Amino acid sequence: MKLKLLSFLICFFVIGQFTGNAQGKSLIINTKAIIAPIQPTMWGLFFEDINFAADGGIYAELVKNRSFEFYKPLMGWKNIGEEYAGQLQIVNSQNENNPRFVQLQINDGKEFSLENEGFRGMGVVAGENYDFSILARQTNGNTTLKIELLDSAGVAIGNSELKNFSGEWKKYETKFSCSKTQAKASLRLTFSGKGIIEIDLVSLFPEHTWKNRKNGLRADLVQKLADMKPGFLRFPGGCIVEGHELETRYQWKKTVGNVDERKLIVNRWNTEFSYRNAPDYFQSYGLGFYEYFLLCEDIGASPLPILNCGMACEFNSSELVPLDKLDPYIQDILDLIEFANGAPTTKWGKLRADMGHPTPFNLKMVGVGNEQWGTQYIDRLKIFLKVLREKHPEISFVGGSGPFSDGQDFDYLWSQMRELNVPLVDEHYYKSPEWFLKNASRYDNYDRKGPKVFAGEYAAHDKEGKDSESRNTWKSALAEAALMTGLERNADVVYMASYAPLFGNVNAWQWRPDLIWFDNLKSVGTPNYYVQKLFSTNKGTDLVSALVDGKPLAGQDSLYASACIDAATSELIVKMVNVAKKPNVLNLQMDGKQAAGKELTLQIIANSNLGAYNKVGNPEEVAPVERKQKITGKRIVVNLDASSLTVARIPIRK
Ligand code: AHR
Repeated sequence: MKLKLLSFLICFFVIGQFTGNAQGKSLIINTKAIIAPIQPTMWGLFFEDINFAADGGIYAELVKNRSFEFYKPLMGWKNIGEEYAGQLQIVNSQNENNPRFVQLQINDGKEFSLENEGFRGMGVVAGENYDFSILARQTNGNTTLKIELLDSAGVAIGNSELKNFSGEWKKYETKFSCSKTQAKASLRLTFSGKGIIEIDLVSLFPEHTWKNRKNGLRADLVQKLADMKPGFLRFPGGCIVEGHELETRYQWKKTVGNVDERKLIVNRWNTEFSYRNAPDYFQSYGLGFYEYFLLCEDIGASPLPILNCGMACEFNSSELVPLDKLDPYIQDILDLIEFANGAPTTKWGKLRADMGHPTPFNLKMVGVGNEQWGTQYIDRLKIFLKVLREKHPEISFVGGSGPFSDGQDFDYLWSQMRELNVPLVDEHYYKSPEWFLKNASRYDNYDRKGPKVFAGEYAAHDKEGKDSESRNTWKSALAEAALMTGLERNADVVYMASYAPLFGNVNAWQWRPDLIWFDNLKSVGTPNYYVQKLFSTNKGTDLVSALVDGKPLAGQDSLYASACIDAATSELIVKMVNVAKKPNVLNLQMDGKQAAGKELTLQIIANSNLGAYNKVGNPEEVAPVERKQKITGKRIVVNLDASSLTVARIPIRK
């Protein structure tokens, strides 16, 4: 008898350890009582040109400092070749937007070469075609230009030639194919003949870009964004909107029109962090506001531009525009709305049409300021809103709550946002994974009558490791998933959310963690990316309640959950997070519409190693898998893996 009892106890203990709570909690889901619609904008993207996200990233240009406008005009370029082959001079044409060009005097019978290193090298692919272009003018004599793509050993892996340059500035183009895949190729231009030739805007793009637009965006990187089916795209940042000082703030008008005329400026992340200095980080604006709007349209995201409100970064210079001198800043927003939505007969609408998009971009939201704080922000915001609301009642103007997730400044700004009746308030939180878990109930008691929440920048910051990607651990992503169930559960007050920042170049980053890492050839989705993607591609249309013992599941027994209906497909979508290091079980019980059909789909991200992360070029350690499960009765038992996010899609009766 004693032996029997002992073996029963052992059995109970061992199985219990393995399965966790074998019976599991019952999650009661009321499929009939819709709490609120889920906003189509619920899950979106935050893009900022940080970590070489634009130049050297998504903008597929391979030549760095293509128009010699960096403060060191030959940064990124190397002058090689024989002594006395000729002479190189930097000439300032006094043209306001693109002043400098290179003048080369080639000595008779000699060869003069210039080599461009690209953005930490150039990524090129065997069999791909490359589009080369250059602005040139032959002021004297006759020169031939040999163009060569070089591998890392200096051997030519693609080439072409241009000659018969005219005496007037003209664009010359040629295409050539590449014979070898290289992550760190370079471009050599060799001039021969005799005389003086002047050159500017030297450019090399892969022929194959996103939607094969000429001189467009890197296809693999945009594909990752499109795969997320984002509800919105916030651009161009971030602190880049504010600038280190007002002079270097983001000015959208300088980023549209002919690419040759877009005036380059220093990137504010150039020397922001002494431990990650990037003196060669500039904004060519090849990716400008037109391209951002086009990108939004391509990936089905609502555009959300954030504009400067007359304040430079308060962590840096804190420069302010006097209250009576804000007009040009307000005008920038009015003109942007015209650029995006105006008829082609208007000044800015015409520019959009001339650039290739006569139909409007359907802009509905504009952010005024980024991480501003204090009365100085509110004083300015009031002036902006007075004019903007009067002229554009159809646009939602988004306000901010500063860089911190709580505290005096945050409370002050929120109280002001309520008073100003701002429709959406931008919140930022870069915090530990533990903070994320604790804050899964953050919005449960938010005021339902006031402004809606835009969680505009957030990321769980785990410990740093050696690899660039190492901070994007599964632990951080899992904690974000837990918090995101809290965002979804409060979809009546949380209207938008975006992880930040979006991109990190493994060879040139300033800030980590980031959602997607890339090098010159490849890219990888982090565990955080897959969490975002699972939420975004399982957004649903209507929020329903999911309660355990009458309460939201927000950490009890290490579990988190939220539920919604997808009216279009007649499915119940349940997101479940188990942060315990052992498996767990949830019993889904539906009040109202019951499950229909024979099986449900589970999309699962699980990894027992919380420190796991994905590396560019390696098989992904943390990525979703799909499982089917039979529907056998009214109660659906979902086994949750240790440290996992599980999204169940259950067909329900119409
Ligand atoms: O996402 C990186 C930076 O974090 C953003 O530029 C800024 O808004 C925040 O401080």
